[in-house]
Amino acid sequence: MSRAPEDPIDSVAKDLSGDLNRMESDWDTRARTAPEYYIASGRQDWNKEDFFRGGEINVENEVDSDLANICRRRPASRMRMLEIGCGAGRMTRALARRFGEVHGVDISSAMIELATANLSDLPNVRLHKNNGKDLSGLRSHAFDFAFSFIVFQHIPSLAVIASYVNDVYRCLRPGSLFKFQVQGGRESESPADTWVGVTLSSQEAHALANACGFEVIAESGEGTQYYWLWFWKPELAWMPRRLRSTARKVAESLKTARATSASLFGGAVDLEFSCRRIEPGGQYAVTLPELAGSAIDVAYEFTAPDAKPVAGVVSRWCELDSRGRATVTVAADTPAGIVKVTKVRAAGGRWRRAHGWIEVAGA
Ligand SMILES: C[S@@+](CC[C@H](N)C(=O)[O-])C[C@H]1O[C@@H](n2cnc3c(N)ncnc32)[C@H](O)[C@@H]1O
Repeated sequence: MSRAPEDPIDSVAKDLSGDLNRMESDWDTRARTAPEYYIASGRQDWNKEDFFRGGEINVENEVDSDLANICRRRPASRMRMLEIGCGAGRMTRALARRFGEVHGVDISSAMIELATANLSDLPNVRLHKNNGKDLSGLRSHAFDFAFSFIVFQHIPSLAVIASYVNDVYRCLRPGSLFKFQVQGGRESESPADTWVGVTLSSQEAHALANACGFEVIAESGEGTQYYWLWFWKPELAWMPRRLRSTARKVAESLKTARATSASLFGGAVDLEFSCRRIEPGGQYAVTLPELAGSAIDVAYEFTAPDAKPVAGVVSRWCELDSRGRATVTVAADTPAGIVKVTKVRAAGGRWRRAHGWIEVAGA
């Protein structure tokens, strides 16, 4: 039985309360009757050791084997991750051994109670009973990786899945991955319920990613129960999509990160970073010999044809020594991407224009 295509984001506006109530009450009942079986239905007679060993194996298969995509050279131990539908903590335990901080959300308070008891020895785990459709209460841009396994396959409505994808995008930092598995198998004759959830086609998955701002960097298992999706939130997520390729080209041609003001204090002023790629929160040496002995602000904005400029301050008031050297602390909210260093302000004076580009790494 095929479903008429619907706009994934429009569908979020629908009244979801019926589905949410059903999911919550069915999963609470399952958690109170046979939690291990309903979490991993391959076996009826789980003992704790095998149950958590199963979670470890799933993490080895889905996370350890995919660290290049997930971590992008960052150490996992410094990453904060999100698991949607953490259940009794079967995979959360294994994830917490690898990642710096793991947040698990689940619609069922009975599941969250089990997870709380099972993971009480892990100080880097935070558990949240959520509303079953989004991540309300979790901060925006706070997570470096989001993950979900054998959860969305049980969700009976595309609108709920769309609502999650939309909110995961909000919570991920730019330059981060949402890896998740959905039901991709053939639509059954009976309507989706809280056990056999709604099916996602590749076309729907791509439409959903596109509507939410993600790029689909990989997919596997289309048409099966284990349809995996890799949704990437681009580093340049803050920038209008049509401008991202221009910015990437600028990055490729970047030779130096010099910002030059032609008119500061009546003469040319060179502002030079000690590297061509800076990180929000990082500290970098700058040299501005012409302004030795004073204090400066360094500002940026991204400008490209037709773009609304995005502006901010890279570093506030840094003192230059007698040779014009200083260490600037790059503001933590400096957006990732290629920014044009446009302004330098010295000793409380007026902003003056500067010229130059610098690449800001994703946090
Ligand atoms: C089969 S279990 C899997 C648990 C865990 N992912 C694992 O692999 O051990 C499915 C879990 O998803 C949760 N769940 C189902 N629908 C959900 C929803 N809409 N939002 C959040 N959690 C949900 C259930 O309460 C249950 O804990």
